[in-house]
Amino acid sequence: MKKIIALVMAALMLVGMLAGCTAADDGPGKNKYNLTTVKEGYLTVITSPDYAPYEFYALDKDGNPSLAGFDMALAQYIADYLDLTLEVVPMDFNGIIGEMQNGKADLAMAGLSPKPERALAMDFSDTYYEGKQAFITTKANAGKFTDLASTNNADYTIAVQSGTIQVDLAAEFSPNANVINLTKATDIITELLSGKIDGAYVEWDVAASYQKNYSDLQIVCEVPYEAEGNVIGVKKGNTDLMKYVNEALNKCVDEGTFAKFLEEANNLASGDNYQGMLDPDGKVPTDAG
Ligand code: ARG
Repeated sequence: MKKIIALVMAALMLVGMLAGCTAADDGPGKNKYNLTTVKEGYLTVITSPDYAPYEFYALDKDGNPSLAGFDMALAQYIADYLDLTLEVVPMDFNGIIGEMQNGKADLAMAGLSPKPERALAMDFSDTYYEGKQAFITTKANAGKFTDLASTNNADYTIAVQSGTIQVDLAAEFSPNANVINLTKATDIITELLSGKIDGAYVEWDVAASYQKNYSDLQIVCEVPYEAEGNVIGVKKGNTDLMKYVNEALNKCVDEGTFAKFLEEANNLASGDNYQGMLDPDGKVPTDAG
């Protein structure tokens, strides 16, 4: 009996040593580029999946939602390039800056504009996409808006997504309007379509994407914004990660892969997709319309 126990012990020790070996090979800092990440071996990416074609839930043929969009394809590309396992953590956009501030994620990929104040919470990658801003309404309300100046009217209720640069745009161009902050970009589309609000500030491509599914939406005009373009938020001070993220990003764009991601995302976004967050089991909430 003692012999058996000793054998088992020896076997366990051997397994332990072998495990130790692999851990030393693949362990902290031992991925291809020796990167340190918030969770060893993983690339933790936070996003706000209410933003087609950047990030959203597309329904597969069984109606199961899965994360889609060109930011998500790019996240996978970068994780592969860095030799790390991708872990995406969905949240509302207004949680993203705080989460980066607290050092909880490696990357924020959420159609993020490089607003200078945000540089306190994260570092910015190179620009990978040139987004522009828009003011949108519905066909029914289109007569109210002739240009950007016409949005500055106390009779109108105008929505923006909480925590976004669109909040600043509304303050700048529509200070007299009744501006309301909504948690999700998709809430804005819902409120617009139900006639509860008159207009909204959103990113141009997001407006154009939702317009494909909801032809009642109408883009009024482009809205000027200084910190144009989209960047990836990188964990503050992780300069090695920044270096390889930029390397991956530029490769993806230069070789034309990113253009394919854009095309795929745009096609998927005009198909069946779910406009919101999932329940705790990762399913579409049963009361979702
Ligand atoms: N570009 C805007 C910003 O950075 C809006 C981004 C919203 N992103 C999202 N996934 N909902 O403030």
